[in-house]
Amino acid sequence: GGVATDRRHDSAHKHVTGEAVYIDDMPEPAGTLHACLGLSTAAHATIRSMDLSAVRSAPGVIDVLTGEDVPGENDISPTGKHDEPVLAVGKVQFFGQPIFAVIAKTREQARRACRLAKVEYDELPAVFDIAGLDPLSDRLVTPGLTLKRGEAAAAIAGAPRSLKGRMAIGGQDHFYLEGHIALAVPGEDHDVTVYSSTQHPSEVQHMVAHALGVPSHAVTVEIRRMGGGFGGKETQSNQFAAIAAIAAKRLGRAVKIRPDRDDDMTATGKRHDFVVDYEVGFDDEGNILGVDFVYAARCGFSSDLSGPVTDRALFHCDNAYFWPAVKAVSAPLYTNTVSNTAFRGFGGPQGMVGAERVIEEVAFAVGKDPLEIRKLNFYDAAGESSGRGVTPYHQPVEDNVVHRIVAELEQSCDYAGRRREIAAFNANSPIVKRGIALTPVKFGISFTATHYNQAGALVHAYTDGSVHLNHGGTEMGQGLYIKVAQVVAEEFQIDIEQVKITATTTGKVPNTSATAASSGSDLNGMAAQNAARQIRDRLTAFAAEKYEVPVEQVVFLPNRVRVGNQEIPFADLVKQAYMARIQLSAAGFYKTPKIHWDRDKGRGHPFYYFAYGAACSEVSIDTLTGEYVVERTDILHETGRSLNRAIDLGQVEGAFIQGMGWLTTEELVWDDKGRLRTHAPSTYKIPLASDRPKIFNVALADWSEAFEPTVHRSKAVGEPPFMLGMAVLHALSDAVASVAEHRVCPRLDAPATPERVLMAVERVRKVA
Ligand code: MTE
Ligand code: MOS
Repeated sequence: GGVATDRRHDSAHKHVTGEAVYIDDMPEPAGTLHACLGLSTAAHATIRSMDLSAVRSAPGVIDVLTGEDVPGENDISPTGKHDEPVLAVGKVQFFGQPIFAVIAKTREQARRACRLAKVEYDELPAVFDIAGLDPLSDRLVTPGLTLKRGEAAAAIAGAPRSLKGRMAIGGQDHFYLEGHIALAVPGEDHDVTVYSSTQHPSEVQHMVAHALGVPSHAVTVEIRRMGGGFGGKETQSNQFAAIAAIAAKRLGRAVKIRPDRDDDMTATGKRHDFVVDYEVGFDDEGNILGVDFVYAARCGFSSDLSGPVTDRALFHCDNAYFWPAVKAVSAPLYTNTVSNTAFRGFGGPQGMVGAERVIEEVAFAVGKDPLEIRKLNFYDAAGESSGRGVTPYHQPVEDNVVHRIVAELEQSCDYAGRRREIAAFNANSPIVKRGIALTPVKFGISFTATHYNQAGALVHAYTDGSVHLNHGGTEMGQGLYIKVAQVVAEEFQIDIEQVKITATTTGKVPNTSATAASSGSDLNGMAAQNAARQIRDRLTAFAAEKYEVPVEQVVFLPNRVRVGNQEIPFADLVKQAYMARIQLSAAGFYKTPKIHWDRDKGRGHPFYYFAYGAACSEVSIDTLTGEYVVERTDILHETGRSLNRAIDLGQVEGAFIQGMGWLTTEELVWDDKGRLRTHAPSTYKIPLASDRPKIFNVALADWSEAFEPTVHRSKAVGEPPFMLGMAVLHALSDAVASVAEHRVCPRLDAPATPERVLMAVERVRKVA
C-alpha cells in the first residue's frame, strides 16, 4: 500500500458516482441564507450614487452589504498592498467588480434582487489593452524585475546576425468544474467556520479575520476537496469567503455564496496575457549569443499575485536554453480589467513561450529545423561542464536531463521519418497542410517566495492501529491526498486503507502555504513523513525496551513489526505502546533546504530543482478556413521515482490538454467598454474530448530520479507538463510556414485560433 504503487485516486469512485462531497453538496444548516454579488457596470468610474432600496425590498431579501458594512478591513489583497477591496467603495476599477452583496432566503431571490440596483457612475479614462502601453513608463501594479547576466546589448550588437520581434500571448480562464463557493457557519462566541473552495485555507482564514476585525483564532477554514483549482483558487477564494463570513456573523445564520458561471468568469482573475518584445543576436549556425526580453503583462486593477507571476515569467525566459548574455525585464501593467492571478505554471508558460518564439525565429532565419536550433542551444547536461550551465538568475543548472528526454522522444516518435513524410504530404496537398514540432520543458520547482516553502502535518495512530492523517495541502483533483497517504502507509508499512485521509483545516495544521507551485507532495509528503517517522521511532524505542532487543532488531514489515525473533501485528504494538503511555500523535514539519533568492540583485537559487519533459505534436490545418486537428502527440515526461505513476500520468495528460487549450482555442475577449464577452462555455472554448490528439502516446521516463533528496526521490508534476502544449502551437506554426516553403517565420500569436491560423497563412503567402 505504500509509495511507488499505482493507487487510483482516493476519490475516483466518488467522483464518477457523484458521491464525492463538494461544498455545495454538504447538508445546509437550518436557516441557511444565500448571497449574490452585485457587480459594477462600468470599467473605471467614481460611483455618483448607489440606490439599493429596490434591492432591499425585493422578495426574500434579508440583508444587503456594501463596503461600508465590512466590520474590519475592507481589503483582501494577498500581498498586503491594500489595493483590493472586498466590496468597492466610491469608485470601481473594472467592469464586473463586486460593489454590494445581497443576502436572501434563496439563491434565486438573491440573484433577482441584485439586478434591481440603481447605480450611477461618472466614467474615468480606462485602459484595457497592454499592446499600446509602454512597459517602461506606464503604470504598474507592483515593481517589475530585471534579470541580467553578461552584456546582452553588446552581445546582440556584436553578433553576426540579429533580429527583433513581438509576440502576443493570450490569457486563460481556469474553468474549474466546481466554481467558487463558500459556506460560513457561525458558532460559539460568534466565531465562524468557513467551508471554502480554496487552495489556500490559511490565507482565507487570515483574510476573513482581517475583514471581520477578529483574531485568526476566531476563524476556522476547512476544505475537503475542490472540483479543480488550477491556481484560480489560490487567492480568488478570499472574496467569497469574506462575504459569506461577514454576513454569517452579522445575521447569526449560515450563509452560502456560489456565483453562477458567468459571474465567476467575470469577477475572478485569470491567467495574465502578455506582450513579449524580444531581440536576439545569433550566428549562421543558429547559436544564440545574446537575448533581450521585455515581458509586459496585463495585471488588471490590483497587484494580487502579479509580482510573483511576472517574476516567474522571467525565470522561464530561458526554458531549456543557455543564453550566453541575457537581459529580461518584466512590466506588471495596471489595467481596468479583473485582477489576473495564478494559473498552472504561474507565468512560467508565458516566459517559455517567449523563449520558444526566439528559437523559432532563429531557425527560420538560418533555414534550419527548429529542433536543431533547440538542441544547439540547450543547457549543459547534468555532469557536463562546457560553461553553459547557469540561468539568467545565476542559479546553476545541475540536474539537466533534457538532452536524454528529447533524444528518446525523437526516436520513439520517429520525428525525422515523419518530418520527411509530412514534407511529401504537403507537396501533394494544396489545401490541407501538415506540421510537426518537438518542444522541451524545463520548469523550476519551489515557491520563489522562499518562506512559502514549508509545510506541516498531523498524524495520529489510534489504539486499533488505524491512522489519522492531516496536512496543510489541499486536494483539487491532482491526487495529493492519496500520495501523502501512501507516504504515511509506507512509513508504518500498513495497508493504505488503514490511513484515513481527512479534510484540510486551519484548526489542525496552522500557517500553511497555498497548495501551489506544484510543491504539494514535495512539501506535505515530507511533513507527513516526518510526523509518521516520529511515531514510528517512538514505537521502535518502546518495542526495543519492552522486548529487550537492540533497536536495529525492530523492523516494520507489512502490517506487522518484527521485534527480535517474534512478529507482532502493527495494531497490537500500537496498543501495547498506548498501555505504556507512549505518545501516539505527532506534528510533522518540513522546509525546503538550499533555496534563497535576492530579488533586488536578481541573483540566487530560487528553485530546489528543475522538472523536465518534451512533447512532439503533429497537426493538420485547412488553409482555406484555418481550422485544424491535432493528429498525434507523443510525450516523454519525468517525475523522478514517481510516488504514483497512475496519478502522474493523469497529471501529464490533463496538463498537456489544458496547455494546448490555452495556446489554441481559449480566447478571452474584452470589448471597448471593458466588458468580458467570453464569460460562458458558449463563447469560451476549452478543449473537448474530440479535440484531444487522435493518437496520444504519453510516457513517464522510467529512469528518472530526483537529483535532490525529495520525498522518495519523486519530482513535482502538477504544472511542468502544462507547457508541453507548446508543441501544438509550434506544429501549427510549422504547418502555416509550409505554404511558403518555410521561408518566413509565421509569427503566430497565441492563442492560435483558426482565425489566427488563417490570417498567418495569408500573411506568410504575401511576405514570401
Ligand atoms: N490537477 C487537477 N486535477 N486539478 C487542479 O486544479 N491544479 C494544478 C496541478 N494539477 C490542478 C491539477 C496546479 S495549478 C498546481 S500548482 C498543482 O496541481 C497543485 O498541486 P500539487 O502541488 O499537489 O501538484
Ligand atoms: Mo498552481 S498556478 O501554482 O496553483
